[in-house]
Amino acid sequence: MTASVPAIRREGGVTKRLMLAAGGSHPGLADAVAARLGTTIAPRTAHAFANGEVFVRFGTSVRGSDVFVLQTPTDPINTWLLESLIMLDALKRASAKRITVIWPFYPYGRQDKKHRGREPISARLVADLLATAGADRLMTVDLHTAQIQGFFDGPVDHLRAQPLLARHVRAAHPDADLTVVAPDSGRVRLAETWAELLGGRPIAFVQHRDSLQHGRGTEIVGDVRGRVCVVVDDMIDTGATMAGASRLLREHGAARVIAAATHGILSADAPHRLAGSGVGEVVITDTVPLPPGKRFPGLTVLSVAPMLADAIQEVFDDGSVTELFDVRGM
Ligand code: R5P
Repeated sequence: MTASVPAIRREGGVTKRLMLAAGGSHPGLADAVAARLGTTIAPRTAHAFANGEVFVRFGTSVRGSDVFVLQTPTDPINTWLLESLIMLDALKRASAKRITVIWPFYPYGRQDKKHRGREPISARLVADLLATAGADRLMTVDLHTAQIQGFFDGPVDHLRAQPLLARHVRAAHPDADLTVVAPDSGRVRLAETWAELLGGRPIAFVQHRDSLQHGRGTEIVGDVRGRVCVVVDDMIDTGATMAGASRLLREHGAARVIAAATHGILSADAPHRLAGSGVGEVVITDTVPLPPGKRFPGLTVLSVAPMLADAIQEVFDDGSVTELFDVRGM
């Protein structure tokens, strides 16, 4: 790895130093962000002890720096989560001036409330861990629910990838009769935003989503016959939701189904499940790394690197991230 080239800005006698640090989870994204910023990634050594304990040491001074720590805690999620915390601790103890965690995918976001007694609120716990480890700010993309922002007691830059995804769908299907479909009633607001981004389209939603896997008891609210249906969600994990929605939509006469989600986790046999479900296209972003073995025909991966880099620059320059990426009401 080449030596770090911190971006330096001098203003009124004050010198600011931007430093980009990256965990080991998603080197491709980190390199793309660094290239766009015109900097390099802070050198570090990292290894695991024989018993699995994680060790990280930065190879350059971080004293007084405005440090941005990029990491995607997925697969293995707990390892990368812990590595993030350990990097923060190292940076804090080495006198970094301000530390912004960039988690393009926020882990444990689905556990944002207690559905029943004796359950954790793990999304909150994770936010507390970040703060304890030394994070001053958090930057993330398409949280599972927007209110998770309130779990972190500091500034949160909640970036949106939907405009990027929607631009792609719009360009790929300029003349299609598109209908935006939410996989459950809870995602209707998201579908409405997508409908707007696609230039004013009708929406539909799946009722009784929990039965999607079995294909029983589910209904579509809205007219999808003959339409090109864009099913929108925040993430695709096992692919069961998208595959089930696709089958249901086709049973209801949809001409084609496009699955669009920000986070392509694609756990286990998700690629196989999606490929066999009649979904015509799957559009995701690279918030989560995707090994070559998980790619399949009909999959498009769009990069969030330019968006992250521009947001980092804005934060460093004390500019406005909202002005850049606001999607009202989402
Ligand atoms: C659920 O609340 C999420 O928004 C996604 O719909 C879900 O995580 C997708 O998971 P899977 O791909 O396993 O159906």
